[in-house]
Amino acid sequence: MIMLTPAPITRTGVAERLGIEFLSFASLKKAGLKLWLGGWLFHILLGLTILTHIITIFFPRIWVGIGYTYYELAGYAGIVFAAVISFLLFRRLLQANVRYVSRYPDYFLILLILSVVFVGDYTRTFGKLDMETVSNYLYGLLIFQPTLPPANFAFLTHLLLAQFFLMYIPFSKVSHFIGWVLAPTMNQRNNPRARWHRNPWNPVVESESWESYAARFQRELEELGPGGERR
Ligand code: HEM
Repeated sequence: MIMLTPAPITRTGVAERLGIEFLSFASLKKAGLKLWLGGWLFHILLGLTILTHIITIFFPRIWVGIGYTYYELAGYAGIVFAAVISFLLFRRLLQANVRYVSRYPDYFLILLILSVVFVGDYTRTFGKLDMETVSNYLYGLLIFQPTLPPANFAFLTHLLLAQFFLMYIPFSKVSHFIGWVLAPTMNQRNNPRARWHRNPWNPVVESESWESYAARFQRELEELGPGGERR
C-alpha cells in the first residue's frame, strides 16, 4: 500500500495529519466544496448531538450548571442538522454527476438519518416528553435492570428509527468512521526510501549463505578463474 503523498515522514507528523483530517476533513475538500461544507457541518452537528444527548439523558444537571441557553441552542442545532442533511440529499438528487454514482443504499442511509433527526426535532419541540422517565429507562438498560419506556409515541418512533440506524451501521458505509483512521494511505509514514518494509505475509523464500554455497560448489568454483572466467 502506498501513502498519499505529500505525506509526513515522522510519527508525530502522521498524528498531526490525522488530527487535521479529523477536525477539518481536509481531503474531502478535494472532492468539491459543496460536499466538503455539507459533510463537515453534518459531522460537527452529529458530534454535538451525541454530546448533548449524553448530557440531557444521563447528566441533566450539567444544563443547570452551564445555563439553559445552551440547552436551547442544542434544540436549534437539531433543526440546522435536518437542514444540512436535506442539503446533502438535494445535492445527490440535483447534481447530475453525483446522481449518476448514487445507488439505493446512498438514498436509504440519508433518508434514514433524516427521519431520525426530523422525528428527534419533533419529539423535542412538540413531544411533551418527560425526560426523567427517558433517563430512568435508558439508565435501567445500561445496568441490566430494564424499566418500561415512556409511553410517548414521538419518542418511541425516534428511538426505533435510531435503533434501525445503529443496527445498519456495520453493514453500511457509515463504517468509514473506523476505516478512515486504519487507512494505510493516510496513516503510513513517507519513509520507503529510508527503511526496508518487509511484507510479513510474504511466503518464506529458501536461501543459502555464501559459505554453504561455496562449500557445495567448491570444485566448480575452483575451475573458474577470478571474475568467473574459466582457466
Ligand atoms: C438510542 C439512541 C437515541 C436516543 C435514546 C435518543 C433520544 C432523544 C431524546 C430523548 C430527544 C429529546 C430531547 C429533548 O427533548 O431535550 C432526542 C432529540 C433529538 N435526537 Fe435523539 N436519540 C437517539 C439517537 C439519535 C440519533 C442517532 C440522532 C441523529 C443521527 C438523533 C438526533 C436527535 C435530534 C437532532 C434531536 C433534537 C435536538 C436535540 O435535542 O438534540 N438522536 N433524542
